[in-house]
Amino acid sequence: ASTLGAAAAQSGRYFGTAISANKLGDSQYTTIANREFNMITAENEMKIDATEPNQGQFNFTNADRIYNWAVQNGKQVRGHTLAWYSQQPGWMQSLSGSALRQAMINHINGVMAHYKGKIPYWDVVNEAFDDNTGGRRDSNLQRTGNDWIEVAFRTARAADPDAKLCYNDYNIDNWTWAKTQGVYNMVRDFKSRGVPIDCVGLQGHFNSGSAYNSNFRTTISSFAALGVDVAITELDVEGASATTYANIVNDCLAVARCVGITVWGVRDSDSWRSYQNPLLFDGNGNKKAAYTAVLNALNNA
Ligand code: G3I
Repeated sequence: ASTLGAAAAQSGRYFGTAISANKLGDSQYTTIANREFNMITAENEMKIDATEPNQGQFNFTNADRIYNWAVQNGKQVRGHTLAWYSQQPGWMQSLSGSALRQAMINHINGVMAHYKGKIPYWDVVNEAFDDNTGGRRDSNLQRTGNDWIEVAFRTARAADPDAKLCYNDYNIDNWTWAKTQGVYNMVRDFKSRGVPIDCVGLQGHFNSGSAYNSNFRTTISSFAALGVDVAITELDVEGASATTYANIVNDCLAVARCVGITVWGVRDSDSWRSYQNPLLFDGNGNKKAAYTAVLNALNNA
């Protein structure tokens, strides 16, 4: 196959990208995105601050621009994200305790109702673990009680029973890291107690040099063995090493329940860390060596 999406589809997987609503008028951007990708994540537009800027008043203007563009072009949408310590609107930042807990529940219900039956995968909870200890990250949500994550998942299941519900985080790629083990233990606990969780998103923000470790494949297969889908949800690699990109793709392809890969932007110039040139297309929209490495890996699956 000659595009990333079609190449991934040969093994029943998707290949996606993050999209920004404010770039949908850029024809170079939309041409590449439409040609290459078949799964779309809103880079910012479905986050809490964007969708509920005032408490109880939902705004889906920009989220729907992305959703509609995707669907009109035959693509699916990953929902990102419903409960997160970051990008909370001011009103939510100032809440605590039971008022915050209820606001989280109301937010999940409000957003999932708008997209009910339309979003195959939702990142229900994002980045809830501490970077170093393997325990929970401190946040206003965490201070509402350790059960906030399972409450979020139970709320989400009831709100849209057809959506697959994901936990999404970064720096859970290396199997030996405490953070990876912390998330793994939470998912194992949720599965054993019947808390509804269907998938784990490994964001995949890799730095250059030693950051990628070949035990990534062990991480993917270990999560999958718990009975959840795994996706690489926000892939970018500092410097865009073609070898590293190919290794990552091959690690996903090696595990049946690794359902797809999303890169976190189209061109280097679109990236949240554009100075690291981490994506598959350069700032002029040209395919980079990493693009060819990814396409070949997908075609060789
Ligand atoms: O839209 C406003 C604009 O009106 C304002 O003038 C400008 C001034 O700062 O800010 C603009 O908003 C920025 C927004 O991106 C859109 O460009 C925010 O400041 C900026 O914080 C925001 O950054 C996003 C970041 O999440 C926020 O946490 C990045 O685009 C986005 O790529 C990044 O994505 C996250 C994932 O959601 C979760 N995992 C990590 C990943 C990378 O940080």
